[in-house]
Amino acid sequence: MTLAQLAAVAGFYGRFTPSFSRVGFQARRLGWRHVPWRFAGQHWLVTGASAGIGRAIARAAAAGGAEVTVVARASRHLEQIADGLDDAAARRLIPVAADLSLVSETRQLLERVASRGQPFDALINNAGVLLNDHQLTVEGHEASFVVNLLSHFQLTEGLVAADLLAEGATMVNMSSGGMYSVPLGLEGLDVTDPARHVGKLAYARHKRAQVALTEDWQQRLASRGIAVYAMHPGWVRTEGVRQSLPVFWRLQRPILRSPIEGADTALWLCATRPESRPDVIWFDRRPRTVHLFQQTRRAQCTGAELRALLERELKPV
Ligand SMILES: NC(=O)c1ccc[n+]([C@@H]2O[C@H](COP(=O)([O-])OP(=O)(O)OC[C@H]3O[C@@H](n4cnc5c(N)ncnc54)[C@H](OP(=O)(O)O)[C@@H]3O)[C@@H](O)[C@H]2O)c1
Repeated sequence: MTLAQLAAVAGFYGRFTPSFSRVGFQARRLGWRHVPWRFAGQHWLVTGASAGIGRAIARAAAAGGAEVTVVARASRHLEQIADGLDDAAARRLIPVAADLSLVSETRQLLERVASRGQPFDALINNAGVLLNDHQLTVEGHEASFVVNLLSHFQLTEGLVAADLLAEGATMVNMSSGGMYSVPLGLEGLDVTDPARHVGKLAYARHKRAQVALTEDWQQRLASRGIAVYAMHPGWVRTEGVRQSLPVFWRLQRPILRSPIEGADTALWLCATRPESRPDVIWFDRRPRTVHLFQQTRRAQCTGAELRALLERELKPV
């Protein structure tokens, strides 16, 4: 590593570690008022719910009285998420296995929830992956593009079209501080050529696009009283981080947040429903800027162009 690279790494950790790690969470929580997680009578849909942050959100919502449809690929892991909850809360967790890297499986998921006909009071678009190795799906998309972005779009639009997001519902899109490094753009969202794939860059682009989609939905869904937020959970000790960022994991592990700490802002948003605003990302219960660096302020596409691309990707060929 050159001296300049070393300085960049030191600068990165020096700037973000105090805030994004447990240290930031523990310091900020001293000023928070206690908000009980009371969600009785509500119905939630949480994706990526079998592990990490999604699991923590689903368990807290069920413990708070909500019936929670939990989605991930592995049924075995979904069934285990109730472990340690009381019987009533465990019964409120409804596992639905679906591979969200496949448009066909997200469609089936929509059909399954539509057949129940019960609208959701909270939608947590949490499933997300950083894939260092390029993976092409059998449908011809780069897999992380579909999990991180296209499936969120498909699921949300499908629920809205079928009237399955209740009047006054809350939607939380789990973005990431990774988006701070890139501007919004269409280029590099669905990289089907393995030679052009850089996992971290693709992830950052998807997470930036998620923030733009959040603004689009805020405008479209406001008349139905649906509050839409993008959030950043901080740096959280999860299997996803261990697998995708092994060096980061080794350096930061002792001070990473617990999954329930990473889940806190999502639960708080659903419990308190603050005014939803464009151009912010929520982090530790506060709206924060969506741009930390000058070079990301100039978007390379509009929100409408992003929507048009996602709509095209979902059109049957
Ligand atoms: N951890 C962090 O520090 C951090 C920081 C910033 C943002 N985030 C974001 O927070 C969210 C959760 O991250 P995490 O760290 O908790 O992740 P994680 O521990 O890796 O858990 C990911 C969850 O998503 C599911 N999933 C993965 N691929 C899927 C697919 N193709 N279809 C359906 N479900 C799938 C996994 O279950 P299966 O494998 O069984 O499908 C699992 O339930 C992500 O959007 C991530 O980008 C995390």
